[in-house]
Amino acid sequence: MGWPVSLQPILVVYVLTIFHSSPKLIVDVDGRIIAILLGRPEDDDWDEVVADAGCALERARCAGHRVGTFRAKDTEHRRGRFAVLTTGVSFGGGQQCPGNLVNGSKRQKIIDQILQNKSLCRLAGFQSSGMARYAPKLWRYYVDTLSAIFEHHPGLPHLYSNSIFPAATFNLGPAVVADEHADIGNCVRGLCGLMSGGKFDHKNGGHLYLKQVKLVIDFPSGASALIPSAFVDHGNTPIQSDENRFSFTQYAAGGLFRWVKYGFRMAKSLLASVGGAELVASFDGQPGSRWEWVMGLFSKHEELEKDRQTALGSLYI
Ligand SMILES: *[C@@H]1O[C@H](CO)[C@@H](O)[C@H](O)[C@H]1NC(C)=O
Ligand SMILES: *[C@@H]1O[C@H](CO)[C@@H](O)[C@H](O)[C@H]1NC(C)=O
Repeated sequence: MGWPVSLQPILVVYVLTIFHSSPKLIVDVDGRIIAILLGRPEDDDWDEVVADAGCALERARCAGHRVGTFRAKDTEHRRGRFAVLTTGVSFGGGQQCPGNLVNGSKRQKIIDQILQNKSLCRLAGFQSSGMARYAPKLWRYYVDTLSAIFEHHPGLPHLYSNSIFPAATFNLGPAVVADEHADIGNCVRGLCGLMSGGKFDHKNGGHLYLKQVKLVIDFPSGASALIPSAFVDHGNTPIQSDENRFSFTQYAAGGLFRWVKYGFRMAKSLLASVGGAELVASFDGQPGSRWEWVMGLFSKHEELEKDRQTALGSLYI
């Protein structure tokens, strides 16, 4: 169990020394868990898992440069300057329906190799189970929505059998330091998983900072966090010049949730149909009511046990 850290009194930037043992929960003034610093699992071999994942990503980076798959926008983008590979199911940026993030065959081959790496698979599962444990209602909402998508579009690939997240970004390094950004395409009422790895002194750099929440967080190699990446600007502090860092994130695009809500249609096409405006309004509910519903998806610290039982059912031991 983690301890709640009330956000109310936080007016200055704090450096929290956390992550090493039990998870820490970041809660709002009402005790709602809005971010989870999962830290590392207690597995004895975790250092090896992280090092092995790092090898897989380094190999992918070298292969990518060798076959010339990285274009300028893959190595210099709004998140920073390092090689990136994105994969999975998404929806947005002009797509007409949910689809596999399309990539060239050379690139896809590199991505497929990454996806086969069992160590990265364990990292993925750790983030997903963290979501089930500390944001069980949200996890249930993801499960229901995304199962509907995968059932409705049977051709879509599922990245990891042990993770609820439909998409992943591999930040290959060699020195991943994310510039401040918010991931506006991600589900606004959701959490995304972040993981940090590599050889760097986490007391001297590679911190995760959450701007609006006013937290700077030690983020050592092997640790994971779940953060509301769509509405909190976040980034990393620089690492030293002789160090290296990679990262791995998992997320779900907001468009996927709207697609299911509007009955596997885009709001735009629904609005254009006869009676569409009324339908959209009925799906959206009373003005102002959605806010309450969204807040209700985040568990309060004292209701976690109850929420786990309801949302996870027999999966909860
Ligand atoms: C691969 O897919 C991502 C996500 O859609 C895109 O940003 C990137 O440009 C694609 N790369 C290639 C080579 O098509
Ligand atoms: C992970 O990837 C690396 C590099 O490709 C490989 O050497 C290693 O065997 C993989 N590990 C697992 C557990 O799949």
